Amino acid sequence: MRRFSRIVVTGGAGFIGSNFVRWMIDRHHELELTVLDKLTYAGNLANLADLTDNRRFRFVRGDIADASLVGKLAKEADAIVNFAAESHVDRSIEAPGDFIQTDIVGTHVLLEAARRHSHQLYLQISTDEVYGNVSTGLSSEDAGLAPRSPYAASKAGADLLVLAYATTYGLPVAITRSSNNFGPFQYPEKIIPLFVTNALNGEALPVYGDGMQVRDWLYVTDNCAAIEAVLMGAAAGEVYNVGAGNELTNLDLTRAILAKVGQPVDLIRLVDDRPGHDRRYAVDTTKIRGLGWRPNHEFSDALATTIAWYRDNPAWWKPLKTGAYLDYYRRQYADRLASSLPLE
Ligand code: NAD
Ligand code: TYD
Repeated sequence: MRRFSRIVVTGGAGFIGSNFVRWMIDRHHELELTVLDKLTYAGNLANLADLTDNRRFRFVRGDIADASLVGKLAKEADAIVNFAAESHVDRSIEAPGDFIQTDIVGTHVLLEAARRHSHQLYLQISTDEVYGNVSTGLSSEDAGLAPRSPYAASKAGADLLVLAYATTYGLPVAITRSSNNFGPFQYPEKIIPLFVTNALNGEALPVYGDGMQVRDWLYVTDNCAAIEAVLMGAAAGEVYNVGAGNELTNLDLTRAILAKVGQPVDLIRLVDDRPGHDRRYAVDTTKIRGLGWRPNHEFSDALATTIAWYRDNPAWWKPLKTGAYLDYYRRQYADRLASSLPLE
C-alpha cells in the first residue's frame, strides 16, 4: 500500500473528480488534497461546497497546461491524479482544439512536473472510448487503441504519452480506463443528466440515430473506489479497465429514466445521429477485480438514487441550463428536434 501526504487532483471541480475528492477525504484521514481546476463550463465550485471548510482540502483555480503553476503545486505533493479534460464527445466534434490542448498538452505538462518532483505515482484517468467501437466481446487492457472521435483520440494520445514517460524516464504511472459514469453532480450535457433534467421539465429526450448503441453504465462512486484501489495498490506501469457490466441500449436506458421519473415514452424523439457514433463499448474488468475491486451498486437502484438527487437539487442544475448552455443546446438539438420522429 502506498502512503501519500498530499495529492494534486486536477479537474476536481468536475463530475467524477469532485466525487473522488469527497471519497478520499472521507476515507484517508491524514491525506491532504489540492484541487487544480480551470473552472471551464463543466467545472463548478458548488460540486465541492461541503468541503470548503475542511483543513485538508485546498482549491486552486488554474490550467493544467500552466507549467509554472503546476510546478509549484507538484513540488508540495507526492502524486497527481489527472481528471482534468474536455470530456464531451459532441463538443469535440464541434471544436476539437480545446481537447487537444487540455487532454494532450495539459497531460504533458503534468507528466513533466511529476518527473521533476519524483512523485510516487502519476495516475491518468482515461476512458474505454480509446479502444474505439467494439462490436462483440470485451476490450482487455492490451487491446490496440482505435479512437474514432476527437475526444477519444485526444484521450488515447494522452494515454500513449503517459506510457511513454514510464518506458523512457521510468516515471511510476498508472491509467484507469472506465466505462460511462453516472451519478450526482454530472453536468447536464451527458445523456443521463440531460435526459433526467429534460424529463423532470417535461421536455423532449433526443435519442441519436436508432437508439440501439450500447454503453456499460458505472455508478460514479464505484469508479472512485476503483481509482482509489489503483492509486493505493497497483503496480507502476499498469493500465486498468473499470466497468460494471451494465450494458444497455440508449433506448432501454431512456425508457428506464422515463419510467422512474414518471413521464410518458412519447417524450422520446429519434434525432439525426452523432457523426462517427460508436455502436458499443465494453471492457474486460478481470484485471482490476484482481485488486479486490467490485462494483457495489445495482444499476436500477443507482439510477433511482441519481434521479432522486436531480429531483431534490434543482438549485444545482437549473442555473446550469441557462446562458451559454442554451446556445450549446440550440446548436446541438434545435434542427435535429425540428426534423425528429417520435418513437413508433
Ligand atoms: P467533467 O467535464 O465533468 O470535468 C472536467 C473538469 O476538468 C472540469 O471541472 C473542468 O473545469 C476541468 N478542466 C477542463 N480543462 C481544464 C484545464 N485545462 N485545466 C484544469 N482543469 C480543467 O468530466 P468528468 O466526466 O468528471 O470526467 C473526468 C475525467 O474522467 C476525464 O478525464 C474524462 O475523460 C474521464 N472519463 C469520464 C467518463 C464519464 O462518463 N464522465 C468516463 C470515462 C472517463
Ligand atoms: P454521452 O453521455 O455523450 O457519453 P459518450 O458519448 O461519451 O458515451 O452519450 C452516451 C450515449 O448516449 C451515446 O451513445 C450517445 C447517446 N446520446 C443520445 O442518444 N442523445 C444525446 O442527447 C446524448 C448527449 C447522447
